[in-house]
Amino acid sequence: RILILDYGSQVTQLIARRVREAGVYCEIHPGDVSEEFLKEQQSQGLKGIILSGSHSSAYDESSLKVPALVFELGVPVLGICYGMQAMALQLGGKVSWSDHREFGYAEVRAHGHTALLKGIQDFETPEGHGMLKVWMSHGDKVTELPEGFKLMASTPSCPIAGMADEQRHFYGVQFHPEVTHTIKGQALLSRFVVDICGCEGDWNMPDYVTEAVARIREQVGDDEVILGLSGGVDSSVAAALIHKAIGDKLTCVFVDHGLLRLNEGKQVMEVLHENLGVNIVHVNAEAKFMGELEGVADPEAKRKIIGREFVEVFQEEAGKRKDAKWLAQGTIYPDVIESAASKTGKAVAIKSHHNVGGLPETLNLKLLEPLRELFKDEVRELGIALGLPHHMVYRHPFPGPGLGVRILGAVKKEYADLLRRADAIFIEELRNTIDPETGRSWYDLTSQAFAVFLPVKSVGVMGDGRTYDYVVALRAVQTSDFMTADWAPLPYPLLAKVSGRIINEVRGINRVVYDVSSKPPATIEWE
Ligand code: XMP
Repeated sequence: RILILDYGSQVTQLIARRVREAGVYCEIHPGDVSEEFLKEQQSQGLKGIILSGSHSSAYDESSLKVPALVFELGVPVLGICYGMQAMALQLGGKVSWSDHREFGYAEVRAHGHTALLKGIQDFETPEGHGMLKVWMSHGDKVTELPEGFKLMASTPSCPIAGMADEQRHFYGVQFHPEVTHTIKGQALLSRFVVDICGCEGDWNMPDYVTEAVARIREQVGDDEVILGLSGGVDSSVAAALIHKAIGDKLTCVFVDHGLLRLNEGKQVMEVLHENLGVNIVHVNAEAKFMGELEGVADPEAKRKIIGREFVEVFQEEAGKRKDAKWLAQGTIYPDVIESAASKTGKAVAIKSHHNVGGLPETLNLKLLEPLRELFKDEVRELGIALGLPHHMVYRHPFPGPGLGVRILGAVKKEYADLLRRADAIFIEELRNTIDPETGRSWYDLTSQAFAVFLPVKSVGVMGDGRTYDYVVALRAVQTSDFMTADWAPLPYPLLAKVSGRIINEVRGINRVVYDVSSKPPATIEWE
């Protein structure tokens, strides 16, 4: 295994991800782990150590601390950015400090033929120098190599951008191989963990399940765990994983707020409870939610009510489980980054997001977040490895407040029922329509698609009669990060079919429109 020591960089998880992509098992631990811990790791087959970068530019010589034992275990060590500087300093080199730090694209000249960089380059200069296109962070930098090291990479503004001690297999890079902007980053990290550390590169998702199960067992012992199930991918995968680890010691509370998609509640019960045997308390709280939402038209007020009611219902159920010691959540890595960003005040709250997690602190439960280090696509792979069906694991995201933010203005059960049916038709047709060019369904070609209920009436004609009914808007977007999004160019015949079916099959809706707004300036959801 590979040990990643974390010095607080926001991209440390990316290192783990790249190592996993190279098929090697790794664990992230705090940068100041004890000597006992390191010795234990060594006895468990530790093959190499990666020292992460750090987020702060406000460190100095006194704050640089990598446990000295790291350099005495006889395993290869790769220092990234801060990790390289710490390595340089602790092994007798010099670092110059600066409170000014720059991040950006750089072209790095790769010197010589180190085991780490041999044959890895993006292009060659006319003079024959191998060059790498990288994401660099400089400011503080190594100014003098420690004994035994040779220069491995440089740029004009950072003359020591990489260093290597090939005898001890210690390497340092000032740039970030873990980010995608560093084109050959994956190759570099694979080279380190597979070729230099000698890991097999055969680790995969089923192995991850085994390891994650063992970790959960170790963490919670014989304690009981409760989990708020939303029906979404993350909480479902977390439930399946924890269930695999501790079986009936896990109880899921599934709060049905009456704002779920058609048959969603049934599906969750079928897949998780009936097929996998997960303990689920299914609380039908539709009446309670509808009551609280009655007459409330303001989007933020609606979100707050749904969030608050959710906590209340969940808390009531959780309170009944006196022996529960842990609250499990399907927090995934992007959530961790996002909440870190909002804590630093950088993120502006456009909408108050509500998730199943992050809620009842008053319950006095310890947090269990087994997906905390995974990215969405890894969570999906994990779900498949755990036996969850493809259609559940690869579902479009669905917001915590559910249809509550897809019924504009005041929410009514009548509206929710109409919307559910229209939405189901839209999704069914997206799944059934295959794009001939790519061979993929339009459901897979869109990142998120749904119907929105507009509580306005328009005039129509049906048969010989006049109708005066509601409008439904179709929304379908393509995006990779949900921060920006384009409206999807759905084929006209598909739109025609969906519109025809909704108007014919859902009595109460006589007009369908397609939303052609991108984000920004529009958002994906309408509220
Ligand atoms: P917007 O509408 O802000 O949405 O462009 C971006 C993504 O976030 C989802 N979304 C939410 N997800 N709780 C969630 O868990 C929420 O309160 C919430 N509001 C929006 C939205 O569906 C889209 O994927």
